[in-house]
Amino acid sequence: MASSDVNKGRRRFLVGATSVVGGLGAAAIATPFILSLTPSARALAAGAPVEVNVSKVEEGQLLRVIWRGKPVWIVHRSQEMIDMLPSNDAKLKDPDSEVVSQQPDYAQNIQRSIKPEYLVLVGICTHLGCSPTFRPELAPADLGADWKGGWYCPCHGSRFDLAGRVIKGSPAGTNLVVPPYYYKSDSTILVGESKGVA
Ligand code: FES
Repeated sequence: MASSDVNKGRRRFLVGATSVVGGLGAAAIATPFILSLTPSARALAAGAPVEVNVSKVEEGQLLRVIWRGKPVWIVHRSQEMIDMLPSNDAKLKDPDSEVVSQQPDYAQNIQRSIKPEYLVLVGICTHLGCSPTFRPELAPADLGADWKGGWYCPCHGSRFDLAGRVIKGSPAGTNLVVPPYYYKSDSTILVGESKGVA
């Protein structure tokens, strides 16, 4: 079972810390928008599902956990972010998430999620496996005037929108993966299992 530790300071300057337990070492980061949880050593060892309380993740923030040794992101999208998603469709490789390997069937929708406000993604680029950078801001100078928020992969420049859908022109061929998950309660997500399927 995981627990969250949210810095209630200024939203855009949260300090997240990520740790890998069980003798694998530890690392710390200071990155805007990003929070991290520390899964138990037991969960890491077993590849067990990771329980995540999302109640303190503010709109626009990304919470990072580790599941089966991989980063998994949970993003609390604002209504504005959700409403903007259809406007990206024309510039996406797979706007309707038709590549079925990239998400469970319950996430094959425009938001690619069970609840529109919480997006759950495996944080690994579908090109060659780097971890893309969360860039939720609108039209930053380095990403261009039509950037509406999403992820940018620093390795070879793949771009993904705020549903993890890959943008045309990216070397990545498919959308980011949505892992199996379900809601144990209104604010608790179990990452790693679909409801009723262990
Ligand atoms: S690994 Fe992400 S663009 Fe190549």
